Amino acid sequence: MKIVVATLSAFIMSITVQNAVASDCAPGARVVKFSHVTGGTTHPKVVAANNFAARVNKELSGVLCVEVYPNSTLFGDSKELEALLLGDVQFLAPSLSKFGSYTKKLGVFDLPFIFKDMDAAIRFTNGKVGKSLLNSMEDVGFVGLGYWMSGMKYFSANKPLLLPSDAKGLKFRVQTSDVAKAMIDAMGASPQPMAFAEVYGALQTGVVDGQENTWSNIYTKKFFEVQDSTTETNHQLLAYLFMTSKEFLDSLKPDVRAKLAMIADEVTQEANESVKAAEAKNRQNILDAGGKIRTLTPEQRKAWVDAMKPVWKQFEGEIGKDIIDAAAGS
Ligand code: LMR
Repeated sequence: MKIVVATLSAFIMSITVQNAVASDCAPGARVVKFSHVTGGTTHPKVVAANNFAARVNKELSGVLCVEVYPNSTLFGDSKELEALLLGDVQFLAPSLSKFGSYTKKLGVFDLPFIFKDMDAAIRFTNGKVGKSLLNSMEDVGFVGLGYWMSGMKYFSANKPLLLPSDAKGLKFRVQTSDVAKAMIDAMGASPQPMAFAEVYGALQTGVVDGQENTWSNIYTKKFFEVQDSTTETNHQLLAYLFMTSKEFLDSLKPDVRAKLAMIADEVTQEANESVKAAEAKNRQNILDAGGKIRTLTPEQRKAWVDAMKPVWKQFEGEIGKDIIDAAAGS
């Protein structure tokens, strides 16, 4: 029995190690983990997480060593925040749409059409209100290290979507965000919250008819292969909270903490400078792989804005009008 258990755990270990991005940890370094859910090589979060690990492992060599676990291989959406608080992982970059059980304020990032483009979102996150939201969950023990932009979002479905009425009666996978659910309701469709790792299978088997995501996620997770097309709705932002825990930060010596903060800032800036190019590349990758992209006329686009705009009012109370105004004006 003992042998079976030992063999099984060695097997599980070997799978885990194969899935982590290999890192050469210098002797004596404290090994820490960065878990995230995205995959491929061209995804902005994959690139930023790997850059962060490479810089820490070089500049804090012998002190800290970051191992990156992509693709939900260590923790998926539902477990990662809890794992951070338990000290089972030290770095995460979840979508801002996944914090509803901890704070309602981050719901501002999910309001449809609140940001014209990623530049507007970056201006908001660099401003006073955006910066204050970075640490809106300090009481829980979460520390925000920076906002990583991912891209604007687009709807895909198993039929062409040109007007919101085309979505009537369809089931759309959404993240665990009340704002996203209300947005899908406003289209006369049905929201199905689901972990990111399950989306491809759900689209393939018809458990859901459609989803909304960035070019980088639609390409690297191959969603386009199991959808009629993706429509350039540009309706919402996807961005991440690059984060750690207060407990982990408090365990570091002040000079290590300061160096880590500096690396985190620089990696964040670099990530946000290169995200537009990554999105454009993955949009082209979809087309090159035979995926179909539909564009909207100004009139069609207006119909989407008109259908979804009432959602803002619905969440004004819990997000705060001042926060919504600051985001909309950025
Ligand atoms: C999603 O669940 O659709 C995204 O948040 C995944 C990600 O991290 O980009």
